[in-house]
Amino acid sequence: GKGNHAHFMHKEIHEQPTVIGYTLHRMIDAAAGRVALSDLNVDLSAIRRVQLSACGTAALAALTARHWIEGLAGIPTSWDVASELRYRAVPMSGTELGVFVSQSGETADTLGAMAQAQSAGAHTLAITNVAESSMAREADDVLLTMAGPEIGVAATKTFTCQLVALACLAMAIGRARGVLGEARESAFVQALSEVPSRINDILGREQQLVTLAETIAPARNVLYIGRGMSHPLAMEGALKLKEISYIHAEGYAAGELKHGPIALIDGSMPVIVVAPRDALFPKTLSNMEEVLARGARVLLFTDAEGAEEADRPGVESFVMPAIDPLAAPLLYAVPIQLIAYHVALQKGTDVDQPRNLAKSVTVE
Ligand code: M6R
Repeated sequence: GKGNHAHFMHKEIHEQPTVIGYTLHRMIDAAAGRVALSDLNVDLSAIRRVQLSACGTAALAALTARHWIEGLAGIPTSWDVASELRYRAVPMSGTELGVFVSQSGETADTLGAMAQAQSAGAHTLAITNVAESSMAREADDVLLTMAGPEIGVAATKTFTCQLVALACLAMAIGRARGVLGEARESAFVQALSEVPSRINDILGREQQLVTLAETIAPARNVLYIGRGMSHPLAMEGALKLKEISYIHAEGYAAGELKHGPIALIDGSMPVIVVAPRDALFPKTLSNMEEVLARGARVLLFTDAEGAEEADRPGVESFVMPAIDPLAAPLLYAVPIQLIAYHVALQKGTDVDQPRNLAKSVTVE
């Protein structure tokens, strides 16, 4: 049941510290400060390219992981949504690792893309939340997320658990290839193990997000922007908002704004800026200035120092806990989910069972 929560989605958002903890427990050796994916058969040192694929929110977890795999394992990494990948003639071979991410393990397009990769000779790895699923059965290797059943149609806790698994996979590839130093690995493992308590901190300040949602709820269009690993998060924020509140939203790479979408900006279009204080922060800040100059109201997610630096008329900030930028997507996912949830609640839409959507898309 929903316990004392009004919706499954709310319960599932609040379960994240616990289930991220379970997933981490399976994948890291916290005492040693190392990743420990003992279930894998594949020889990761032999992999020459990684192909990531999935649908919807799982695809956005995979897109986030491209940054981790390229950055920590130094290996070429491609990404495409499964409905496209499965019909493209992507050259693959035995030195290719195909990583397919799916909460349900039953999504038709993801299964199709995985079968195609398998027949092309790639080694396939499924990241799924359902041990008995078709994907878990058919893949050469499986990493199980420990999110528990997710009932709300909007993916929340399974997204952050997928991020945990993907971050650990990136480290495992980096180590197998001899390119990830021990210090870097233990710093990232340490940051990941701090995520549950940092999320608790955010959940304790949910009331602030309720107030911020009131400024989003009346909008007809919302733009989310971010750079680097915050770009897939911007897309995830827009997807969450669209699917449960029916507000039109776009997630854009902040640097692409001036190539078109900035034409849309006026005082009626809120812009949500996802900007952890990483190397790209100053660049995102200048994109924020550009939308402010066109009259947009800005909702900014950043940490205390970032909020101070970005303090300007027209900017409302939600102050995030400080975290190693590598682990930021796991934290920044949470207020993005809660904003969508509270906007939907304020609009009175059906949060757990949005119109036209199914929890698991088992047909093309
Ligand atoms: O079960 P899967 O992870 O394969 O599902 C993929 C998508 O259908 C799913 O993430 C969908 O986008 C969610 N409703 C988003 O909240």
